[in-house]
Amino acid sequence: MSVIAIDGTFASGKGTLGKGLAAHYGLPYLDTGKLYRATAKRVLDAGGDVTSSVDGARAAKSIKTDELSDPILKSGPIGAAASKVSVHPAVRAALFDFQRDFAAKGGVLDGRDIGTVICPDADVKLYVTASPEERAKRRHAELRGYGEQVSVEEVLAQLIERDTRDSTRATAPLKPAADAHMIDTTGMSISEVLNAAIAICDAVL
Ligand code: C5P
Repeated sequence: MSVIAIDGTFASGKGTLGKGLAAHYGLPYLDTGKLYRATAKRVLDAGGDVTSSVDGARAAKSIKTDELSDPILKSGPIGAAASKVSVHPAVRAALFDFQRDFAAKGGVLDGRDIGTVICPDADVKLYVTASPEERAKRRHAELRGYGEQVSVEEVLAQLIERDTRDSTRATAPLKPAADAHMIDTTGMSISEVLNAAIAICDAVL
């Protein structure tokens, strides 16, 4: 039962890599960002406040798998709200069991604290990043695909704000696990990133 933990910065390509590795090794895949996004959506739908730990924890407690495929979760505003709701320790605690139960059966998980908090015993830990400019360009193209009208500069500013909040929060900040393999995807194609990760995983799995 193999577990591959992928962490990294916003729009670094970790989701694409996670899906690619899951398909390659025949493992289930969980994008844990969706749990925080679904929590944020619940808070907003209920007219609550994402900066409230109480509102966030109430929303996070009963998140169901079928909510995670709602396309609205991919939007920029929900992502920004997810980053705010995810700072609350009570929210993170409420989402802990969902992630651990998933990992117990083996799989690929991607997020911010998988190698450090959720699966510290993962077979392979990868930490994925890319330059802010390249990530902004990738995310901008994705948002345009969803019909959102934003400039690359706006996306870059939001991305830097998001990175700062994710990596400076007190609970489970974004950081590489001590035993993580680092992959900088700047200038790499999707297949180059996947092949580099497979080479790392094949040495262990
Ligand atoms: O990866 P994604 O952009 O979907 O994540 C949305 C937000 O959820 C992140 O900015 C981060 O604040 C939070 N998150 C987290 N821990 C995870 C996954 C996501 O705090 N494991």
